[in-house]
Amino acid sequence: MITAVIGAQWGDEGKGKIVDYLGRENTLSARFNGGSNAGHWARHNGINMDFHLLPAAALHPRMVCILGRGMAINVRKLEAEIGRAREINPTLQVIVDPKAHVVDDAHIRRDEALEIKRGIGSTKEGIGPCYADRVSRTGKCIGDAPPRDCITLDPYNIIMESAQRGGALICGAHGVMLDIAHGHYPYVTSSGCLPSDVGSGLGINPKKIDHTIGVVKAYSTLIGTGPMPMEMEPDVSDRIREVGGEYGTTTGRPRRIGWIDLPALKYANRVCGFDSLAITHMDVLSGFSSVKVVDAYYDETILSDAASYLKGTAVYHELPGWNNVRDASAMRFQSYIADSVGIPISLISTGPDRDDMIDLR
Ligand code: IMP
Ligand code: MG
Repeated sequence: MITAVIGAQWGDEGKGKIVDYLGRENTLSARFNGGSNAGHWARHNGINMDFHLLPAAALHPRMVCILGRGMAINVRKLEAEIGRAREINPTLQVIVDPKAHVVDDAHIRRDEALEIKRGIGSTKEGIGPCYADRVSRTGKCIGDAPPRDCITLDPYNIIMESAQRGGALICGAHGVMLDIAHGHYPYVTSSGCLPSDVGSGLGINPKKIDHTIGVVKAYSTLIGTGPMPMEMEPDVSDRIREVGGEYGTTTGRPRRIGWIDLPALKYANRVCGFDSLAITHMDVLSGFSSVKVVDAYYDETILSDAASYLKGTAVYHELPGWNNVRDASAMRFQSYIADSVGIPISLISTGPDRDDMIDLR
């Protein structure tokens, strides 16, 4: 079985938590896109670990972690991250595709200089310049600079064997609205973030993916610049930011916060074809007398176009709030999302720990 976990919003949907939870059902986990601009977070037995390059399932015993050729890898950061993960999980195995690209110090300096001109809120991890060198065919591949403590080989066979026996879990980084082709260009990252990018980024037949989970937070967050027409009033967003710890995992920047955007989620499903949704951060929205969802936009807002989306005026629908994530009103909120997108919900995350989960599968 191959399961893909994909961010359905602007990244930071809580994919790390979902991937860590599903890790026990899989013997292999793989990243196909991005690099250390991503930040995923998992917590188990009181231990927190933030991941930037490894799949967030890396804490499970004997987990085989694959870094695919669609990735842009900072070798020094990868070695440090493997060291931290092995302190918790000494049995971790890491395999890197030799055709993945290397992020070097010059890429980081170029990214910093570009960001001054461009101002999209980049993490300045050197990702854009690394991919620019890749498409210009001047980049350097991992095969020429193999990281320590990893095996460097084409992972195709091991992914397909794991899919047959132990289960393979594919961990997307970022989210649909940050996708280079279908996100809010230019407020996007430089890699493909969709299920259709899994085939290229890992070198597997995309038809072999059995189930694609779209991960969606109970509200919207955006880090960096970019349009956010459903941004909340500061008093509401400040409360959510503190309760939910809504600060960037990579940069520590405060995240901007809005209500959940159902038209954007339907658009994400249009380009991804999710089989189910995982809803995260339900506990963070607890305690409000009512919550809102964006049902539609006035005007002809083009969801994939940043300028048009920015000018969109949201039509909100208000629903009763909840004090406990198992209250009927919380379930009504979840059903409202599932019904409007037309996809069932498989998982509901109710807190930061691995087992804070309602599993509806
Ligand atoms: P870059 O990929 O670091 O150049 O950043 C480009 C844009 O994508 C910026 O707005 C970043 O904040 C955003 N971004 C990149 N990776 C992530 C992520 O994993 N989560 C959320 N935002 C991200
Ligand atoms: Mg993140």
